[in-house]
Amino acid sequence: MDEKDSCIFTIFGATGDLTHRKLLPALYFLDSEQYLGDNFSIVCVGRREKTTEQYREDAKASISKFSKRKVEEKILNRILNRIHYYRLEFYQKKKYIGLRKYIEKLSKQHTTACNRVFYLATLPDFFNGIVKNLNQVGLVSKNLKGRYSRVVFEKPFGKNLKTANNLNKEIRKVFNENQIYRIDHYLAKELVQNLIVMRFGNLIFEPLWNTKYIDHVQITVAETLGVENRGPFYDKNGSLRDIVQNHIIQLLCLTAMEAPKSLDADDIRDQKVKILKSIAKIKNIKRDTVKGQYTSGTVNGKKIISFRQEEGMRPNSPTSSYFAIKFLIDNKTWKNVPFYIRTGKRLKERATEINIIYKKSSDRLFNKDHKIENNILTVRVQPDEGISFKFNSKIPGNKILIDSVDMSYCHECKFGPESAEAYERLLHDVMQGDQTLFTRWDEVENAWKIIDFIRDAWHNVEPTFYKPGTWGPKKADKLLEKDKRKWVVPTKPYYAEFLNKK
Ligand code: BG6
Repeated sequence: MDEKDSCIFTIFGATGDLTHRKLLPALYFLDSEQYLGDNFSIVCVGRREKTTEQYREDAKASISKFSKRKVEEKILNRILNRIHYYRLEFYQKKKYIGLRKYIEKLSKQHTTACNRVFYLATLPDFFNGIVKNLNQVGLVSKNLKGRYSRVVFEKPFGKNLKTANNLNKEIRKVFNENQIYRIDHYLAKELVQNLIVMRFGNLIFEPLWNTKYIDHVQITVAETLGVENRGPFYDKNGSLRDIVQNHIIQLLCLTAMEAPKSLDADDIRDQKVKILKSIAKIKNIKRDTVKGQYTSGTVNGKKIISFRQEEGMRPNSPTSSYFAIKFLIDNKTWKNVPFYIRTGKRLKERATEINIIYKKSSDRLFNKDHKIENNILTVRVQPDEGISFKFNSKIPGNKILIDSVDMSYCHECKFGPESAEAYERLLHDVMQGDQTLFTRWDEVENAWKIIDFIRDAWHNVEPTFYKPGTWGPKKADKLLEKDKRKWVVPTKPYYAEFLNKK
């Protein structure tokens, strides 16, 4: 499909955080890289009363604020002119006739027949209704005679296995699987895409990637941000549905899976599903999981309100802003190798890392006075993208004294600061019809099985509290201490200070 094909790109949830923080900046950069042709319009659908002019002002502010690269006024004006705001209550069926007319009118301004993309960046509760309404007024179709109509679902896809299943059945009545794009934007992060290349393209990693050499694995997705404007969403979903069901589980699968037959989307997805099916049931939920919530506090002189005080949250909300777990994978490769997972909001640093902690060398040459440490391979997904390897080395001098040193690869130093953001890649792939970086239904289904089990078992588990600006609840440290291990603290790599950040 030619990138410059005409397209009406409609975003539901246009006044939401995701649209402003990620989608509009991504569309700006696609435009700046000439991926959007002359016949490309963006219809932003929201429930708030606004004119197109007002919305363009908001969009201008967001693109300037949230873009990681330099924004040029000429391109900014070009993208703003493509944007149109349409007010709609998502559940009001009759109003979709108006939306259809609006889109048809816009299409007529274009010189070629228009493809259609509908991006559902709303609360998941609206997904089914929006798809039904779009279908009822004829805005989408399985067959558009040479043009495409595609639908993109933000995560989480459903609230649990049952609702996800129902949702999937309903949307399959309207769309074929190849028209459905279930987003997990972590899959498009450069260092996540790089996992397959790093693991299978280098002989020094894969032969050691198993229980014989690896002691355990840690996956951390830490954020300094709080709930932002998403209280109502967060209150219902918590980090378990927001981050674990999708981003973290995908990181785990890509770290643990066997080599796929090829790089084709389905071969990779088949391997990921095998891992999802092998994750062992948690035997003792109180012992092996940590559910946390941040309290109020002060971080860098700034007052932070507690998780439960955020707008839209219930004052006694039981959902999590922090989650940690110890997973085991029931297969030969990972026998007795724990995967410790943690994620949280309002933590000390923003850091997404995968740490592979190797067993200690037990070579007879060394004794307990020689401080042999575990080798650690760190895939730094963000920020300061890169990979580092910690290994034991001799301290200069005439005695054999040992210290742990670090070898680092800095992604930005090698490839520059201009790598595309995850959402740019994903939006581009939707328009190109490439589903590789989107999740297949059976991945979503099996991920829900794991999450549902934890949620069901969590009924009587009260959250433990942590101060904002820390690494989370003390109980999370104990999760590893019980196994005589500790969390790897994300540290800035030496090259961070040289990076020319915007
Ligand atoms: C989203 C979550 O999927 O990912 C947000 O809904 C979270 O709660 C965001 O803040 C983090 O994304 P990134 O790309 O900034 O790590």
